[in-house]
Amino acid sequence: MSLPQPADLVVHGGTVVNAGGRSAATVVVGQGRVLAVQDPSLPLPPHRRAVDATGKLVIPGGVDPHCHIGQRLGLYQQLDDYVSASTAALWGGTTTVVDFAIPEPGQSPLAAVQERRDMAAASRCDTALHGCVVEWDDTTGKQIETMAELGVRTIKLFTTYRNAVMAQPDTVLEVLRALHTNGGIAYVHAEANHVIEDAQDIAASAARADARHHAFTRPELAENAAVAQVLATAEHVGAPVYFVHQTTAAAVDLVRAARRRGVRAYTETCPHYLYLDERSYTGEHPERFVCCPPLRAGSSVAALRARALVGDVDTLGSDHCCYDTAQKSEHSDDVLVMPNGLPGVETRLPVAFTQLVRRGGMPVERFVAMFATNAARLNGLTGKGVIAPGADADLVVLDPDATRTATVADLHMETDYTPYEGEELAGWPSVVISSGRVVVDERGFHDPGPVGRALDAAPIPGHLLT
Ligand code: URP
Ligand code: ZN
Ligand code: ZN
Repeated sequence: MSLPQPADLVVHGGTVVNAGGRSAATVVVGQGRVLAVQDPSLPLPPHRRAVDATGKLVIPGGVDPHCHIGQRLGLYQQLDDYVSASTAALWGGTTTVVDFAIPEPGQSPLAAVQERRDMAAASRCDTALHGCVVEWDDTTGKQIETMAELGVRTIKLFTTYRNAVMAQPDTVLEVLRALHTNGGIAYVHAEANHVIEDAQDIAASAARADARHHAFTRPELAENAAVAQVLATAEHVGAPVYFVHQTTAAAVDLVRAARRRGVRAYTETCPHYLYLDERSYTGEHPERFVCCPPLRAGSSVAALRARALVGDVDTLGSDHCCYDTAQKSEHSDDVLVMPNGLPGVETRLPVAFTQLVRRGGMPVERFVAMFATNAARLNGLTGKGVIAPGADADLVVLDPDATRTATVADLHMETDYTPYEGEELAGWPSVVISSGRVVVDERGFHDPGPVGRALDAAPIPGHLLT
């Protein structure tokens, strides 16, 4: 690529780390893209701005494949919108967020996509969307085709949350098949609903339906059973499948075993399932940690982390849900009513970096794969998740040795708490560049305005990851 004179930006002195390797390099940026990744011994090309990354890592901007933005799930409205969620994402080194278009009762999946696309116009970073199908009908196949033409090729399916968004097994099968035909992939929340409802009944009859007993009501075997069933369906129809927020080693192992048989199956986990455990439910504010699936026992967290460290987990989603402490506590005596989910779009990088790289010794290359590259590929987002000529200039500069104490006062999500309050975390970005714009640096946040593009997913090809 020939370099315009002068380049908009050069990032020099750092170690550029991609999923495929690292090198000392200068990144040259122009017109929102990476123009060159050049030998650091070469003179800097003429440029308008320079970022000195000496002693630091330069990694691709994060791609968060699992982010709920300003949604109403059940009784509770999440407190953020595209402006605040994307701003917090950028602060945390994530330059692309993938949100969900979950239809309201009576709304079609396609109408939900169109509505969310309009909302995303306010975003400060690039965005993409997952559609969502609750019940297959005569129109769904055509809607999935139209969504694919609109650049939405990933569809969320829930095997739980009856009377809300739960899809029956025949709907799961039809959607998997239709997505396969349209170059798409299903994103599945897999928990066996009948087991959960039974556990909830048992808990309620023992007056234990509150947040403190949340983990009991959604046992590991419910997750493992649903993953096994959906995998069998995917294998039967020959379709790819992606499991969101996996929390158990057994579920991850099921996906790996299927992959070895040739099934295109993928595992996502979330920073909270790697960092926190069910002891959070015995503390002063158990409700602040209620998410589905729940936080697991310490031994399960260790086993999940071990899988991640050997490369058996493909992506890291935040599963960001922005509720505040008042919303979390209002009905904390009933986990069926209170809002699920944790705020996390801003802390995805430091929480996972601390647990996997700092404490676990994961090579930064593998971390980059989970944080950005694999999510980009599994969402058909070409130009994302890699620092290479022609790619979007989404870059994060971080000092891997620096740590900072997490506190809600320093964060930017529309909530009054973080599950990581007081934790000493590494991997905080010092500079964030989004489509060539320096949006975070030592002087703070530089609001780029509503420049985030709604990205079209390209057809998702055959075997994507090893
Ligand atoms: O607890 C969670 N994760 N709430 C958000 C909805 C979902 O299941 O992803
Ligand atoms: Zn879910
Ligand atoms: Zn979710």
